[in-house]
Amino acid sequence: MTPPSGNDGFVVFDHVQKSYDGQTLVVKDLNLSIGQGEFLTMLGPSGSGKTTCLMMLAGFETATNGEIRLDGRNINDVPPHKRGIGMVFQNYALFPHMTVGENLAFPLEVRGMGKADRETRVMRALDMVQMGRFKSRRPAQLSGGQQQRIALARALVFDPKLVLMDEPLGALDKQLREHMQYEIKALHNNLGITVVYVTHDQGEALTMSDRIAVFNDGRIQQLAPPSQLYEKPDNSFVAGFIGENNALPGVIERLDGGKALVRLATGELIDATPVNVREVGQQTLVSIRPERVEFKPEMMPAGAHTIDAEVRDVIYMGDILRARMKVAGSDDFVMKFRNTLGQTRLDPGQHIRIGWHPQDARALDLV
Ligand SMILES: Nc1ncnc2c1ncn2[C@@H]1O[C@H](COP(=O)(O)OP(=O)(O)O)[C@@H](O)[C@H]1O
Ligand SMILES: [Mg+2]
Repeated sequence: MTPPSGNDGFVVFDHVQKSYDGQTLVVKDLNLSIGQGEFLTMLGPSGSGKTTCLMMLAGFETATNGEIRLDGRNINDVPPHKRGIGMVFQNYALFPHMTVGENLAFPLEVRGMGKADRETRVMRALDMVQMGRFKSRRPAQLSGGQQQRIALARALVFDPKLVLMDEPLGALDKQLREHMQYEIKALHNNLGITVVYVTHDQGEALTMSDRIAVFNDGRIQQLAPPSQLYEKPDNSFVAGFIGENNALPGVIERLDGGKALVRLATGELIDATPVNVREVGQQTLVSIRPERVEFKPEMMPAGAHTIDAEVRDVIYMGDILRARMKVAGSDDFVMKFRNTLGQTRLDPGQHIRIGWHPQDARALDLV
């Protein structure tokens, strides 16, 4: 799957805005092109506008401005049931008075499909989610995870090309959620469908998606594949939202070529890689991932910037250790390192010298 370019995606949001009250825009200027067969996740905190975007794509909300296209066609005025989109929501209730089989047959009946075809499709969809044996049960006789599988089967039963999922696993416990993530991913791969998935759970987004659109405050902050979001965040919001992050406040002292010199709040000068910072004197947050921080001299990368640190505590996490330190005015500077044999001990109160490569220190703009 290659990410689409320009405006020729399977799903296109073209300068889409949404206001519920005619005043505040909860979706500000959405431009997003999703490729056929892509698994795209909208990730962001609560209230950032993800569900609103999905509802406009599904047709349950209208865009205040802009155009939404599906397979090259403007669908702004197409009613939901004529868009051919499958949907799964966290609380997408199954009809309680119908059996599982009847719940699945319903979207086919609405589409005017004959009984024999319906039977075949229902069985096929139930087999996809390994729920064939439960066809005659009612929803109340199923566990939460099983109900969610049926909701998934119901979204797939009419062979939609596009499936929307809004926090579909939010109500499930951790183990079942992780299991269902694999199942949804497998279905996506096997069926070749396009999925637009909404979650506020970054782990879920990172494991499932081809690309992730990080939302905040009605805007996409960054659109990129998972590894790029983590390794190369575009701004301080994305750096803080995806994964664990150290953020040292400072001011840009010098900018030349691909390098920035940053004066930290404590007065110390450090080298960093500038990302979307443009001016000397500009405020910045220098972002350094905890696993890029070293303290063992033999592990220190060539050209590393080193700095004093005071250990506050060390947490044992099995395969890794996580040290919290005081560094350059920050009380919560985190370093993660592998739990190797003959581990150097770190004790609370101990003063050490830590370091990182300037390439791993990203001077980000504040958003
Ligand atoms: N039906 C609605 N009427 C009025 N405001 C709404 C409605 N739905 C959502 N909002 C508001 O729009 C903003 C975005 O909400 P939503 O799209 O649900 O965000 P998310 O799914 O990212 O949590 C929030 O401020 C929310 O309060
Ligand atoms: Mg939501």
